[in-house]
Amino acid sequence: MHRARGLWRGGVAATLGGSRAISGVPGAASGCPGAGLGPEAEADPALLRASSPEVARRLRGLALVRGGFVSEEEAAELLREVEPGLGRGRYQNDHWDRAITGYRETERGLRGGAGRALLLRVTPAFPPRRPPRPSAHVLDLLPGGRVGPHVDSVKFCGCTIAGVSLLSPSVLRLRSLQDPQDWLELLLEPGSLYVLRAAARYEFTHEILPDEESFFGGLRVPRGRRVALIFRNDPSETPPDPLSDLPVFIEDTQDSPPPK
Ligand code: OGA
Ligand code: MN
Repeated sequence: MHRARGLWRGGVAATLGGSRAISGVPGAASGCPGAGLGPEAEADPALLRASSPEVARRLRGLALVRGGFVSEEEAAELLREVEPGLGRGRYQNDHWDRAITGYRETERGLRGGAGRALLLRVTPAFPPRRPPRPSAHVLDLLPGGRVGPHVDSVKFCGCTIAGVSLLSPSVLRLRSLQDPQDWLELLLEPGSLYVLRAAARYEFTHEILPDEESFFGGLRVPRGRRVALIFRNDPSETPPDPLSDLPVFIEDTQDSPPPK
């Protein structure tokens, strides 16, 4: 267990002593935050920790995190859009497919302005031939809730998972199925986007750490209520070859016209 040397204070740049403001993350400032989300993309190194440089290299472009992907205004609008659907469900403590406690969830098409805009902006993270499903999985976790280690069902979900975190920071940990000592952690600030694809999605479990284990290195990341909007694509017709989708993506990326 890591010991706290700092406390999450509403922005990793402030906490880690960096001068970069969260709003200065590439993409947010360019007015095109969906750009550069393919496998060529670089994760923000301040938001990523790996058990070794080899693991970081192996998951390069496959596990991404971007701070400041949605603004505070967009976040408020997205929450206004999804809260009514969540409000009807009671918090639960287990799920057939993944160890999860203190949660409620819904699957819904985002039809408001902010929701539709968000779907468009996460679409570049997906292979052109396997775009995200139009409905988002909305997962509402209580401060004491957790998502235990799991791999998303290969039967129901495709090669790419993209999640936008709202309200509370949290830590997403990936752990290798083959070598459990290999791990990668992403610091998910409110308004951030993470993307898991190919090996990061199939060969590693992922989990949202419970409050008592919520540290990012020496940084304490206190968990409050967290709402995630998670986008997934459909599986290909010929699963479950875990790596089969990545060449498709790269091929598709190369096929697409050069950026203007
Ligand atoms: C899931 C999951 C992660 C998140 O619901 O399958 O992994 O960001 N959620 O909440
Ligand atoms: Mn999952």
